Formats: sequence, structure tokens, C-alpha cells
Amino acid sequence: TTTRFYNWTVQEMTGAPDGVQKPMLVVNGMYPGPTIEANEGDRIIVNVTNMISNATAIHWHGLYQRGTNYYDGTAAITQCGIPPGESMVYNFTLEDWVGSTWWHAHYSTQYTDGITGALIVHGKNESVPSYDGDLVIQMADLYHLFSPVELDLYFTPGGLEGTPGNEPVPDGGTINGIGQWGSSNTSFSNFTLEANKTYRLRLVNTGSFVNMIFSVDSHILTVIEADGTAVEPFDVSSVSIAIAQRYSVLLRTNQTAGAYWMRAELDQSAFTYDNPATNPNILGIIRYGVNDSAMPDLSLVNNPPSLPDGSPDSLDTSGLVPADGSAAPDPTFHTYFTISMQYPASGASDYLSFFLAFINSTSWTPLVNQSSLFSQIAKGASDGSTNFDDDTQLVTTVNEVSVVQMIIDNLDDGDHPFHLHGHKFWIMGGGDGRYQGQAVNNTNPMLRDTNIIPAYTWMILRFEANNPGYWAFHCHIQWHMAAGLLFQFNVLPSESSQFDIPQYMIDQCTRS
Ligand code: C2O
Repeated sequence: TTTRFYNWTVQEMTGAPDGVQKPMLVVNGMYPGPTIEANEGDRIIVNVTNMISNATAIHWHGLYQRGTNYYDGTAAITQCGIPPGESMVYNFTLEDWVGSTWWHAHYSTQYTDGITGALIVHGKNESVPSYDGDLVIQMADLYHLFSPVELDLYFTPGGLEGTPGNEPVPDGGTINGIGQWGSSNTSFSNFTLEANKTYRLRLVNTGSFVNMIFSVDSHILTVIEADGTAVEPFDVSSVSIAIAQRYSVLLRTNQTAGAYWMRAELDQSAFTYDNPATNPNILGIIRYGVNDSAMPDLSLVNNPPSLPDGSPDSLDTSGLVPADGSAAPDPTFHTYFTISMQYPASGASDYLSFFLAFINSTSWTPLVNQSSLFSQIAKGASDGSTNFDDDTQLVTTVNEVSVVQMIIDNLDDGDHPFHLHGHKFWIMGGGDGRYQGQAVNNTNPMLRDTNIIPAYTWMILRFEANNPGYWAFHCHIQWHMAAGLLFQFNVLPSESSQFDIPQYMIDQCTRS
């Protein structure tokens, strides 16, 4: 194994991903930020220096962080945050985790403004077909306003969006940091490949709100990986990717030599009112067998060529099956969650007279002193207490290794892409309406770390709680997490309480 060192500076920058200038928060002056590419088992050491005016924290989405929960980088849960002007070293190994993922700021909505990057882990025995080359394709929705401004508007009754709870609508999007906006930007993310080869495209939606629908004109794609789980190869014409999800697809450069449009379309079904994104069709270029300035046919921009009859459809995630999966173990620990967006109960000490997001009766806010690894440990540091008692409203404690069954009723009219930290979950079943004891399907269920829970549906997710620490389970839509759609599992506290957390991280709590 190898130890890989990185020196990162989080800084403010004016950028123009689609040609429109906007304030950004970035790592090392880049958007997307640096890619970490490593092998299974490697040690990763990242020295992060915070040069922005708020605290920050960097999260390694999907990684297990076994024994290093305090490097999970989740502000107000596993650390207080790196104070402005200070540094922190993340130090963890890539044990047991292989595939395509990403890292991002996990402090309020900071990643919306650009603190994102890819994280690729090569494995010796990954159960995927062979390929000749490997490309990373990061897609994201794009907001011309700074995210704290969007968030304020979201939280302001009668704000920009008219009624509370309406989502900030993206202005456009990017592929690998490049979008298009009218005539002010005509550049494209582009790749010149070799003809008659097979490429693995690692697709990551690093956006804040909407699904991105990815396709390459005139090509069928074969899905081989989802969220680090190798899947049985599945041919599709396009892939809809929820934010924070990843897919690897194989692209065969077997059509007529030429330049083809690569498309990342913002899925506008998420918009609950009549104010569509101004540019929902983001373009890039894949070319082979031609020189690297060849352009695809401009007349195809708005008229994508159709695939031959009998070609596969767009990805139906219910068809995804792990390549070496098995039945999930029987549950030994049961939880029930409802998802809702509503006004806080009257008399509640809410500071906003408007919609918040709730899991059961809890709306999470990092602004108050809630249970978390760090608040407990920081408290212990100040008053000597070793009492890790939880506020059960906010944390479910799992005291011994258990198979946790989460039954979730989404009572809201929106879809919510939920992510569990530190584990993958099996998707056992789901359907319309509320859960009323319906049967689940335990034949080789899909295993991943981020999944959409559609509006007005129930879903059952199951995971093996065997990784000590505080782990967030939350909607990845940045506005929803900020509005409180987050819950925590405190797994094996008798082990996490023994963690040797660097003292300076605890001390940073008094300054962040
Ligand atoms: Cu991608 Cu809680 O994170």
C-alpha cells in the first residue's frame, strides 16, 4: 500500500463555470477540485487549510472510515469545523472500499459553491468487465448566486421563490466544471479517445438539488458500478443520476469516427413551480478517430439522434443487481422514520416562522448543541464528564453489532436522495403510500449509499451497523439538509468512546 499526501487550501475565488461570473468556494483554485486517485488499502493524508471566512469540513462521501469516524468530516457531527485561518489533517485508509466516489465540504451549503472533487479507488478484484481507459465525469447543477444567498431566500417567506419551501432553481449546470450560458461561453468539457476501445466513464453528480440525465449521442452505455458496488452489466440509453450518486458506465468507441455530443440534462421534474432552469441542457464532447478540434454537428444540439430500434431504455434502477451480492441478513434492530416538510409545531422554539424539514418530530440544526461525537467529546473535555447520553430525538444508538432495518415513510411531495455515512444499505423494497407491512424482496437486493426516496412512498433500507461512530443519515439536497432533514446513528458507543481524537480538533470547537 501507498501513503498519498495532499495539501489543500480552501479559498474564495471568482469563477465563471458557464461564462457568468460568480463567487465560488474552491480547493486549490480549481473547480472541480483535485481528484484523489488511489488503490484499495492506501492511506490518504490531506492537510486542509481554511482560508475562507467561515469554518469548513471536508467529507469523503461513502467511505467507511472504520476506526476513524472523527475524520468523516461532517460539521457539527464528527467535528466542529476547521476555523478560519487554521488547518486540519485528515488521515484514513481506503479499506474495503473500491469504486467511484467524491469528496465535498460538509458545512452548511458550502459545496454548492464548488468545494467538490472526485475520489477514485482502484481495486485488484473489482467484479467489473475489463476496459481500456478510465474517465471521470463530474456533473452538477449550477447557481449563479452564492449559496448562502440562495439559502436565505429559501428560508425567507415571500423571498425570491414566492412561497416558503420552494426550492432554489439552478440557472444551469456543468460537466467537469464547464457549462454553457447563451453566447458568453461556448467551451465544452471534451475528451479525445481512441477508436474501437472500451472506456469506463465514472459519472458523479456533485450537484445540490437535481438529477442529471447523462447520455452520449448514438451510443449505448453499459452500467457496471453504482456507489462502489459492482453490478451485473446493464445496457441503457441514458442514466439519471441523483445528487451524490455515482455510476460507472462502459462506452464503446465503435461508431463512425467523429465527434459526438455528451449530454448532462437537468431533470426538471424536481421543480415544483413554473420557473425552469435557464439552461437545462449541458453539453460536452466525446470524439474518436478524428483530430482533437473536431466539433459535433451543431444542428444536433436540440435534436439528439435517436438510437436504432430495439435499443435499451434509460436506466431503471430497479433492474440493478450487485455482481456478487446475496440476500441481506435478517434485521435485529428496527427503526421507523417519517419525512416531512412542515411548519414547526406552534410553541416550538423555532427561529423561523416557516417550513422546516423533519425526520419524525426532529428538525436537525447544527446551530444548537445537539448530540454528536464532537459535542459529547468537547463537553467531556470541558467538564470531565464521560456521559455520552443521547438526546433520543436526534440520535438512534445501536449498542451492539446489529442489522438495522429502517422503515421510511416519505410524507412529502418531493423526492429525497438519502445518504447514509459509514455504511452501505440494502434496498429491500418500496412502493406507493405508507408502509403497511408489505413484503420485501430479499433476492440479491441492491447495495449502495445514496438512494432516492420518491414522494409519497415508503421504503425499507437495511444496513449492518458494525462501524463505531456517529453517522449521519440525511437528504443530500443541500437546502433540505440545511432545513433539518438529517438524523444520526450512534453505532457501538462503547468503542467510539475509546477513539484517540487529536486534541487540536477538540480545541478547534472553541473557535469554529
Ligand atoms: Cu455526501 Cu453527508 O454527504
